[in-house]
Amino acid sequence: MPETPDHPIAQRAYEELAAGYDREGDTKPSNAYLERPATLSLLPETEGKRVLDAGCGAGHLADELADRGATVVGLDASREMLAYARGRVPDADFLRADLEGELPFADNAFDGVTSSLAFHYVKEWASLFRELRRVLTPGGWIVCSVQHPHADFEEYDDAENYHELELVSATWDAFGSEVDVPAYRRPLSAMLSPALEAGFRLDRLLEPTPTEAYREANPERYEYEATRPNFLCFRLVAPS
Ligand SMILES: C[S@@+](CC[C@H](N)C(=O)[O-])C[C@H]1O[C@@H](n2cnc3c(N)ncnc32)[C@H](O)[C@@H]1O
Repeated sequence: MPETPDHPIAQRAYEELAAGYDREGDTKPSNAYLERPATLSLLPETEGKRVLDAGCGAGHLADELADRGATVVGLDASREMLAYARGRVPDADFLRADLEGELPFADNAFDGVTSSLAFHYVKEWASLFRELRRVLTPGGWIVCSVQHPHADFEEYDDAENYHELELVSATWDAFGSEVDVPAYRRPLSAMLSPALEAGFRLDRLLEPTPTEAYREANPERYEYEATRPNFLCFRLVAPS
């Protein structure tokens, strides 16, 4: 995997964020009570299935998949994230790789792919979805979540043109220290078209709203999240 400062673009940020993610991933409201329940609600039966968790972070979703009987392989660019993931899910395999390039797996290696909040760090979605199609069995599925295109356009200060792919950045202070996190924002059409062009069918699409647990954890922020889109979750299916 290339070791240049900007490739993968968000790796450096996630090495810094890893300890916070590991510590708070089960209770951070935007993940635990908004995005993750919606993503999990899109999962097909996973018992006995081989599932790749792409951009697995500290392993919270991989842990859920393992609990649901899947044989899990987690992939991430961040060494720190992977160390936490290995501790959290000892029965899963984890490896370091870049979603921006060729994936280090054989054709038809997986029945399903999950990816929670990682694809918006990848520039080239045409090759990403072609690679995911290659490593999936016929009829295989992808369940993924990304930052919502409307929220990205409204909330990144450096977003200029909704219709363009743009490299943007925001300073996060969610875990106590400030970290600049770059990402690629793109319009909705540029999210779905590469998947459809790779042969996937769009099976389900969610714009999740916060759960009751979110309201209890942070009532003020709940009101904000309940009236604005923050994430987009979708399920894609490869041809049989
Ligand atoms: C917002 S975190 C989400 C982690 C985990 N999926 C979760 O929901 O808790 C994004 C993850 O994507 C990983 N990531 C970012 N760019 C990547 C790339 N090009 N290839 C592989 N992983 C990447 C980061 O290292 C980080 O662990």
